[in-house]
Amino acid sequence: MSLLDVKNLKIYYFTLKGVVRAVDDVSFNVREGEVLGIAGESGSGKSTLGYGLMRLVPPPGRIVGGNIVVSGRDIVSMDEGTLRREIRWKVISMIFQGALNALNPVYTIGKQLVEPIIFHEDVSLKEAYERAAEMVKLVGLNEDVLRRYPHELSGGMKQRVMIAMALILRPKIVIADEPTTALDVVIQAQIMNLFKKIKKELNQSIIFITHDLSLIAEIADNVAVMYAGKIVEYGNSDNVFNTPKHPYTQGLLKSIPRLKSKEKLSWIPGTPPDLRNPPVGCRFHPRCPYVMDVCRREEPPIKDVGGNHLVACWLY
Ligand SMILES: Nc1ncnc2c1ncn2[C@@H]1O[C@H](COP(=O)(O)OP(=O)(O)O)[C@@H](O)[C@H]1O
Ligand SMILES: [Mg+2]
Repeated sequence: MSLLDVKNLKIYYFTLKGVVRAVDDVSFNVREGEVLGIAGESGSGKSTLGYGLMRLVPPPGRIVGGNIVVSGRDIVSMDEGTLRREIRWKVISMIFQGALNALNPVYTIGKQLVEPIIFHEDVSLKEAYERAAEMVKLVGLNEDVLRRYPHELSGGMKQRVMIAMALILRPKIVIADEPTTALDVVIQAQIMNLFKKIKKELNQSIIFITHDLSLIAEIADNVAVMYAGKIVEYGNSDNVFNTPKHPYTQGLLKSIPRLKSKEKLSWIPGTPPDLRNPPVGCRFHPRCPYVMDVCRREEPPIKDVGGNHLVACWLY
């Protein structure tokens, strides 16, 4: 069953220097228990997409078009009160990029975990604390962290608390935006294992956002590759990783170091475009090794190349 249906979503930032088309006509869906990986270089619109799904796009940004249907309800047109009471954090929640220090320094972890439960549900303080204790154990922390303050925790522990916060109301979908990027390699692996456990034990739907395709390969059922505000390739992870179709995806995969591989590492030359004034036609054309005339003129539609594997490229 589809939990989340995103159709033709557009999110623009209206800056003094022009309109940044950060998310430009993006469509995808997420089923129950599915992990969808969203990959792409920095600046491709991944975080903006995440904010959009929470309807928390910071000004001067705004959702300017499309639909976001969560559990059958379109949240683009929903009033803020209903959204806050019934959807945000409760049905869809988010672990924000770089938010390790977003915990309130003056309250204990326990208080910060209990607060949303009390706000949203009719339970006693004691029950709420029991739920918080269960949740911290689930994310691999000792119960006594409930009595501690944020500054007493390591980076890895704080990230586990952030994950517990995102899960505390048992939302149907969790968006994790670069949840391991700020952590060192060993802790990063532990957090990845935690996400795998959450996926398996809770059958949790997760939108896993990262610039690192190798992390997506570890955990995602499906993957959407973003370039310059658009999804350029979308499909089952095995298909996308084994037979990448878009030259951009191919380039990204060649830039991942692999053990025992004799293939030379390479990087896609050039940089992502300025989204205030993206290239006409295919936004990737200035960097594409296979560029043709049509690519400079017309935007490629996204097409199924077989097996629900979608690609937006004139080569197909
Ligand atoms: N508050 C903002 N105001 C104006 N432009 C923004 C703002 N936040 C992000 N952008 C622009 O939107 C585009 C997408 O950014 P972002 O969603 O952060 O990408 P990613 O998460 O993939 O790195 C970038 O061009 C970025 O400069
Ligand atoms: Mg980001």
